[in-house]
Amino acid sequence: MSAPLLSSVKLGRYTLPNRIVMAPLTRNRAAAGNVPTALNALHYEQRASAGLLITEATQISPEGLGYPNTPGIHSPEQVAGWKLVTDAVHAKGGKIFLQLWHVGRISHPDLQPDGKLPVAPSAIAPEGEAATYTGMKPFVTPRALELEEIPQIIEQYRIGAKNALEAGFDGVEIHSANGYLLDQFLQDNTNLRTDIYGGSVENRTRLLLEVTEAVVDVWGSDRVGVRISPSGTFNSMYDSNRAAIFGYAVKKLNRFNLAYLHLVAPRVEGFGSAEDQPDLGAEFFRPIYNGTIITAGGYSFETGNQAIASDSADLVAFGRLYIANPDLVERFAANAPLNKPDRNTFYGGDEKGYTDYPTWQG
Ligand SMILES: Cc1cc2nc3c(=O)[nH]c(=O)nc-3n(C[C@H](O)[C@H](O)[C@H](O)COP(=O)(O)O)c2cc1C
Repeated sequence: MSAPLLSSVKLGRYTLPNRIVMAPLTRNRAAAGNVPTALNALHYEQRASAGLLITEATQISPEGLGYPNTPGIHSPEQVAGWKLVTDAVHAKGGKIFLQLWHVGRISHPDLQPDGKLPVAPSAIAPEGEAATYTGMKPFVTPRALELEEIPQIIEQYRIGAKNALEAGFDGVEIHSANGYLLDQFLQDNTNLRTDIYGGSVENRTRLLLEVTEAVVDVWGSDRVGVRISPSGTFNSMYDSNRAAIFGYAVKKLNRFNLAYLHLVAPRVEGFGSAEDQPDLGAEFFRPIYNGTIITAGGYSFETGNQAIASDSADLVAFGRLYIANPDLVERFAANAPLNKPDRNTFYGGDEKGYTDYPTWQG
């Protein structure tokens, strides 16, 4: 069987040895001050044979934080910590992009500077509970951002992007998926604004495009990707016409000529799916988007190869398989058995379930 996942591919300015991407994976193992450590560096280094590694979501500002012990990219200590990661990955010949993150309403005063309310496009609380330092607590109603504050949010993305450049990354991915701030602006159950950032699809897409512009200013378009999850319902997301908002946003992203568009596929276990509307997968976006597409969500070696062979995507990102299989590329190539990920050690803890998954060869 031919295995297109194992063939090389051009992505922005880079030529990657294979089409296997390590998906962004939050693991809540940063040190005090949300600083990446040598343990984090080892985790990424172990996975460096992926064609591309994308880091766990990384907050661009203190207000962008939504969970304990996730890393940031807004302090000098965090930049120094990330340098350990990029050096380790580069020493193994890998390429690594940082995922730029602002959680918006998916936070809690316990996690915010001075115990303030989290910010969001509109004052609408998500269902469920926030993960705080003292356990799960019901989400609060966030504070709607004032129009005058939006330039500061864009500036936070720009600074995060600059810091990522300084930390030695090969590029950045703008996290506009899974119900976080930029997704909250896109979808109409979280964005009830009546100014130029709400209402029409044009207005709801504005912040994503302005953030992309700011990040591209720093990095050049060929080292920037954008991630969206057009079918997901994770974090209480819903839009009355997903095809319209995401179709429009993706069409508009064409003008940047980005390194890639990263799609979270419909019906991914654990991330929900809008049942009342058609699935918006890579097949839907392929005719709309002019550039490289990465698809993610529930793929195996077999279905990943099919996605590329059928030309619905160019690369495939693997999440849970990468948690458990640092040598996923080598295992795929050898048709070797795969380790099973242990959910109990996904979020938080130490090296257990993080850097101790065995390679196939031992
Ligand atoms: C433990 C865990 C952490 C995750 N963290 C992130 C994240 O930080 N950023 C993001 O965009 N997606 C995140 N995701 C979603 C994954 O990137 C991926 O889209 C999802 O797991 C589906 O792919 P899979 O079926 O190959 O695991 C996370 C998923 C898991 C299981």
